[in-house]
Amino acid sequence: MKTRILVAALACLAVGCADPGPARDHVAALFELDPRAFHGAPATAAQRELGERLFTTRLGEAACSDCHRLGDHGQDGRSHVRNTPALADVSRQLVLGWDGGEGDLGQMVARELRDRCRVEDAQAVAALTAFLDGWRTRGRWDRYVEGDDGALSGAERHGLATFIEVGCAACHAGRTLGGRSRHKLGAAAPFATVDTGLHAVTGRDADRYFFKAPMLRLAARTGPWLHDGSVSDLREVVRLMARHELGREVSDAQVDAIVLFLQAAADVDERTG
Ligand code: HEC
Ligand code: HEC
Repeated sequence: MKTRILVAALACLAVGCADPGPARDHVAALFELDPRAFHGAPATAAQRELGERLFTTRLGEAACSDCHRLGDHGQDGRSHVRNTPALADVSRQLVLGWDGGEGDLGQMVARELRDRCRVEDAQAVAALTAFLDGWRTRGRWDRYVEGDDGALSGAERHGLATFIEVGCAACHAGRTLGGRSRHKLGAAAPFATVDTGLHAVTGRDADRYFFKAPMLRLAARTGPWLHDGSVSDLREVVRLMARHELGREVSDAQVDAIVLFLQAAADVDERTG
């Protein structure tokens, strides 16, 4: 009898039982916000098609898709000084670049085209930007935020509740789970890194080690992680975040729950254009 209760309790722990998840008003307050589009003129289909073609064509010294691979959400799992960020959903962010130093997608594209390809061309920038604006994902996480409780399993809802409880949503909020603000890497405990983040752009001492809290929508699929790609185990990233951003240690069970939630958030369909 006792064993049976124990087994039931363990099974319950394993699947999060019928965890209702966090309160609905809490979910709405934290995650509903989603700047749908960048602030440019609406793009035409022809512009997006041209953008897609340019994206995979060698322009000057490189093709965007050399590093931002189309089949891998726009990243390549490698570092080119910094870790190549995924480009799916890129325009849903409020700040761009690992250091969050850019606010406008068109400007960021112009910078990439100039720095990586050695090309300056206003029309190419417009087309590439239109293409990137249409590169979006949608999945169970979106349906959950929109009110469908069943879109996440009990265990995944428990993972979300843990994500909130531990404090992750303080920086990784909105439908995108981040990409909205900059924070000090090592806000709670110093984090060893050579890149000084936003400080390298502004030269201001107060900006030292400030980076964008990146979107976590696809994070479970886009390792290795962090601005330098230095950590290749997602569980380790979760532990480091808790320790260095929040000043707390998390249990294995909490790490498991959060990782399960991040995997659910990354369960998406993707479209370009
Ligand atoms: C050599 C590899 C490489 C090439 C080629 C490249 N990128 Fe990037 N891209 C990166 C890296 C690395 C970053 C991160 C830069 C940073 O944060 O300092 C980045 C950042 C970006 C971002 C910002 C993403 C975000 O979430 O903040 C955009 C947009 C982007 N690239 C678009 C492009 C476009 C468009 C092209 C082609 C014109 C291009 N890139 C070519 C490696 C590359
Ligand atoms: C104080 C703000 C803050 C808090 C709280 C925070 N993060 Fe982060 N997070 C960041 C910043 C800043 C980065 C970017 C670090 C870098 O550039 O190397 C980041 C990066 C990440 C990444 C890597 C994403 C990628 O694509 O490489 C993951 C995963 C992540 N955080 C998960 C979490 C989890 C889980 C929690 C809760 C335990 C959490 N974060 C709490 C600010 C925060």
